[in-house]
Amino acid sequence: ATRIGVMTSGGDAQGMNAAVRAIARAGLREGVEVFAIREGWQGAFEGGEHISRLGWSDVSGILNRGGTVIGTARSAAMHTRDGQRQVVRNLASAGIDRLIVLGGDGSLTGARELKLHWGDLLEELVASGGISRELADEHRHLSLVGLVGSIDNDMIGTDMTIGTDSALHRITEAIDAISSTAESHRRTFIVEVMGRNCGYLALMTTVAGGADYTFLPESPPREGWEDRMVDTLERGRAAGRRDSIIVVAEGAADREGRPISAQRIHDVILERTGEEPRITILGHVQRGGKPSAYDRWMATACGVEAVRAVIDADEQTEPVLVGVSHDEVVRRPLMPSVIATREIARHVADGDYQTAVASRGPGFEQ
Ligand code: F6P
Repeated sequence: ATRIGVMTSGGDAQGMNAAVRAIARAGLREGVEVFAIREGWQGAFEGGEHISRLGWSDVSGILNRGGTVIGTARSAAMHTRDGQRQVVRNLASAGIDRLIVLGGDGSLTGARELKLHWGDLLEELVASGGISRELADEHRHLSLVGLVGSIDNDMIGTDMTIGTDSALHRITEAIDAISSTAESHRRTFIVEVMGRNCGYLALMTTVAGGADYTFLPESPPREGWEDRMVDTLERGRAAGRRDSIIVVAEGAADREGRPISAQRIHDVILERTGEEPRITILGHVQRGGKPSAYDRWMATACGVEAVRAVIDADEQTEPVLVGVSHDEVVRRPLMPSVIATREIARHVADGDYQTAVASRGPGFEQ
C-alpha cells in the first residue's frame, strides 16, 4: 500500500494535533498507510521507533489538545549532507516517499532541501551499500506537502498559519486581564508578544485588545517616537483613561535597527513621566494550551486536503503548500512560498520595510 509520513517540526503550534488527526483518518479513508515520524526531522534522522503507523484510535482525544502529540524538535540533522542521507535511508527503508510536514518556514525549507537532493542521496546510499538498488528504484521521488504550523502568521501562501488564531485569543485575554489591574492602579503596562520578525500578532491584538500604542518590526517609528508615545499616553489619561497598554512585538526595532524592547520602552516612560510602568512578557503561554475552534477546523480541513495532495502527486509534481485563501482551502507551490517568506524576513532585517510590507499579505499568487 501507499505509505505517507507525517511529521511536526520546529516550534509547536495549537492546531497541529487537529491536522495530524485529520491526516491519519483521511489517509485511512483513502486506503493509504499513514506513519507518524516522531520528534520532527530529528526523528526522521534517528529512525527506528520514531517511525510508527497511525491507526484510527491512535489519534483519538487529541483534537482539543495544544502542542503536538507526535513531538517536535528544532533539529540540526537536516543541515548536513550526512544527516540528510540518513533521513533518506530511514524513510525509504520504511517505504515512505510521500511526506506531509507541518512546520514553520525553517522546517519547510529543510523539507524542500530534502526533496531537491532526494535522488542524489539515494544514489549515494546505493553506492555505499546503505540501501539496495531495488529499494532506491522503488522510491525514486519524494512527494512533499507542507502545512504551515506557526503562531507567527509569517508565511506567504496562506492567509493564516495553524496556531495563529489561538495565539491571538490567548494574547487578547491576557491584555483584558492586564487592563483590569492596570485600570485599578492607573498604571501603564508594556506587553511583549511573540512573532519573530513578523508584527501580525502585535498588530491584531493591539486592535482586538484596544491597546494604546504598538511597536512592529515592519513599521519602525520615526525619530521622536519617545515624545509621541508619552504624549499619546498622557492625552489618554487626561481624557479619563485609567489604564495604558503598549503592545510591543518581540522583533520591534527603531530605524537604526536598535531593538525596541519592553525594557527600553519602560525606561523612556519612567524617565519622561516619573511613572514606573510594569512589563509583562507573555512568552510561551501564547503557544501553549487549547487550540481555538478556528485552528481546529482549519487544520482539519487543511489536513484532509494535504492527504489528497500528497496522493495526487506524481514525479512531475512540485512540492505543495496547503493553506487557506479567502476561507477556501488552497494548494500553492511550496518552494516559491518559502523563498518569498525568507525574502520578507531579509527585507525586514535590512530595514527595507516598504518592500517587506508590500510583499506581505494574502495577495501572493504564482
Ligand atoms: O516561531 C514561533 C515562535 O514562538 C516565535 O514567535 C518565537 O520567536 C520563537 O518561536 C520562540 O522559539 P523557542 O520556542 O525556540 O523558544
